[in-house]
Amino acid sequence: MEGEFRIRGECALRLLITKLDIINSALLIRRSRNVIQMRSGRMKSFGSVCKKLERKGLEPDFDVALERINDLVGVRAICSYLDDIYQVADLLKKQEDVRLLKEKDYIKCPKKSGYQSLHLILEVAVPFQRGAQWTKAELQLRTAAMDYWASLDHQLRYKKGNRQAQLIDGELRSCAETIAGLDERMLAIRRKIEEI
Ligand code: GTP
Ligand code: MG
Repeated sequence: MEGEFRIRGECALRLLITKLDIINSALLIRRSRNVIQMRSGRMKSFGSVCKKLERKGLEPDFDVALERINDLVGVRAICSYLDDIYQVADLLKKQEDVRLLKEKDYIKCPKKSGYQSLHLILEVAVPFQRGAQWTKAELQLRTAAMDYWASLDHQLRYKKGNRQAQLIDGELRSCAETIAGLDERMLAIRRKIEEI
């Protein structure tokens, strides 16, 4: 069962990445620029699945993982501008072999940490002979600036957890706000240029 899911998950991963590439190519023709700068994906390892189940106080059971863990299949797309994020999301949501289960907009409502990204919990139809196998995946969409913050936050997180934690949390949140401001300004510059 686990082995069969790995294959289906890998297929869902490749489908999603190809969908992102097609969206980028289609928009590249219209805009003469890359809307998606980079995309990547991974299947969660068996070890991380077990750790996450434990952290969430869930049984170490594969069916529980399928039901409760959204990012067994995880894809990330780094977009050039804030509005590109929503455009890519909309184009994906419209597709017949994609279903939206949940949307978490941490750009409009950043997390307490300061984390910003648009998360789509999707189901992708993997076309097997016996019929479509709808497979869940988490897509994280963010700008390069948000990605920079998230990766350093992730690194620093391991070094936090001491009495300086509150100070560091505040600093990181403040950096996230600076980054949000930068994304807004870059978008404003692009729009000004487009008006000319
Ligand atoms: P997990 O946080 O993954 O257990 O699942 P959840 O159901 O709480 O979903 P949530 O939307 O909170 O987070 C999903 C993913 O977003 C995480 O696995 C991280 O990749 C990313 N993420 C969420 N919050 C943060 C944050 O504060 N910092 C960083 N660097 N990444 C975050
Ligand atoms: Mg979380």
